Amino acid sequence: MAVSNTRHPVNLALIGFMGTGKSSVGRLVAEQLHFDYLDTDELIQARTGQTIAELFEQEGEAAFRRLEQQVVKELAARKRTVISTGGGLPTIAANLASLRTHALLICLWASPEKIWERVRNQTHRPLLHGPNPRLKIRELLAAREPHYRQADVLINTDLRSAREVAQQVVHQFKLAQAGNNEGNHPTTGARMGI
Ligand code: S3P
Repeated sequence: MAVSNTRHPVNLALIGFMGTGKSSVGRLVAEQLHFDYLDTDELIQARTGQTIAELFEQEGEAAFRRLEQQVVKELAARKRTVISTGGGLPTIAANLASLRTHALLICLWASPEKIWERVRNQTHRPLLHGPNPRLKIRELLAAREPHYRQADVLINTDLRSAREVAQQVVHQFKLAQAGNNEGNHPTTGARMGI
């Protein structure tokens, strides 16, 4: 999907599954563009004084999603900000619609195998605390793919370092800002297929 010429994104939002590198890439991109950096999970944790795992456990996922929606609405006031989003945030259509009014939406994609490789030694993601996290990744990713595909740009991160992905992101953002969307194909480089 090309970015419409009538859109002038002042921010950049990274969406995508857990373990696709949104936070590390987001920080690198913010540094390169001299933008602020925000992470929706960090904002929620700062606001509630609870970790994401505690929130899921004590308040439930639905309460977490409501907090996420509230944070997304507030982001519309931001300028020159790279926004890294929680992996489930795009499953609520209003979140993507809101982000799209002010940010270029870039999805970082990865295969289930790569995601597993990246998250297997991490413990902070409640959705992967069950008995079969590898299966959970495959199921969730398949269910969420249509949402992720609504991004303006998709970047496959399987074979790229965070630095290389960040370069692609910066390039796509500059193209969008210049209104030069000729040939701005949604899959940058490798195909998105799973
Ligand atoms: C979630 C992803 C997490 C965090 C929460 C739920 C999801 O963020 O928001 O654990 O539903 O995929 P990351 O994508 O930054 O891990």
